[in-house]
Amino acid sequence: MTELVIASNNEGKILEIRAMIEDIELLSLKDIGFDREIPEPYFTFEENAMAKASAIHAYCGKNVFADDSGICVNALNGAPGVISAHYSGTRDDEQNLQKVLQELRDKEDRSAYYKAVICLIWDEETYFFEGVCEGTIIEEKRGKGGFGYDPIFVPKGYKETFGELPLSIKNSISHRGKAIEKMVHFLKERIEANNTALF
Ligand code: IMP
Repeated sequence: MTELVIASNNEGKILEIRAMIEDIELLSLKDIGFDREIPEPYFTFEENAMAKASAIHAYCGKNVFADDSGICVNALNGAPGVISAHYSGTRDDEQNLQKVLQELRDKEDRSAYYKAVICLIWDEETYFFEGVCEGTIIEEKRGKGGFGYDPIFVPKGYKETFGELPLSIKNSISHRGKAIEKMVHFLKERIEANNTALF
C-alpha cells in the first residue's frame, strides 16, 4: 500500500485525519522514529505547513504532508491565527480557549473561522490544499469532543459546538476536513494514473 507520513504530533489532528484517509498507509512521526518538536517560526499557515513538511521529508525521504491550522477571530483582528496552539503562552488548550473568551468578553462580533493549510510533498513536488470553516464563538464551553477551541466554536448552520458534534460531522464540514478532501482527491487521481501507466 502507498505510504504517506503525517508530520504532526497532535493526537487530536491525527485521529481526525486517519478517519478521513483510506487506501493509503498513514505513518505517524512515531512510526518513522522522529521524536522532536518541529519548529513553526513563520507568520502564515502556508509557510509553517511547508516548514514542517520539508523538515520531515528531509528526515525520512518519504512522501509527507503537514497541516498548519488555527482559529481566526474577526473582532481580534484574526488572532490567535497561526499562534492558536500556544496563544496563552502555554500549549494548554484550556488556557488558550479561556484567553479568547476573556478577550471577547465585551465584543459584539463573535464571528470566527478555522483555517487549515496542508502542504504535501509527493514525488518530490510540493502542493498546497486549503480549507476554511466559518462559525461563532459562544460564551461558555459546551461538549467534550474534539480538541483545542472546539468546545467554544459553533460552525455556521449548526447549534452544537464542535465539542458536541460527532467527529463524522465535524470532519465533513471542518477546515481540515475540506483541505484533506482536496488532498485525497488529488492523491487518488495520482495513484490511479500511476497504476494505469504500469499496465
Ligand atoms: P498547529 O497547526 O499544530 O500549529 O496547531 C493548530 C492549533 O490550532 C491547535 O493546537 C488548536 O489550538 C487550533 N486548532 C486547529 N484546528 C483545530 C480544530 O479542528 N479544533 C480545535 N482547535 C483547532
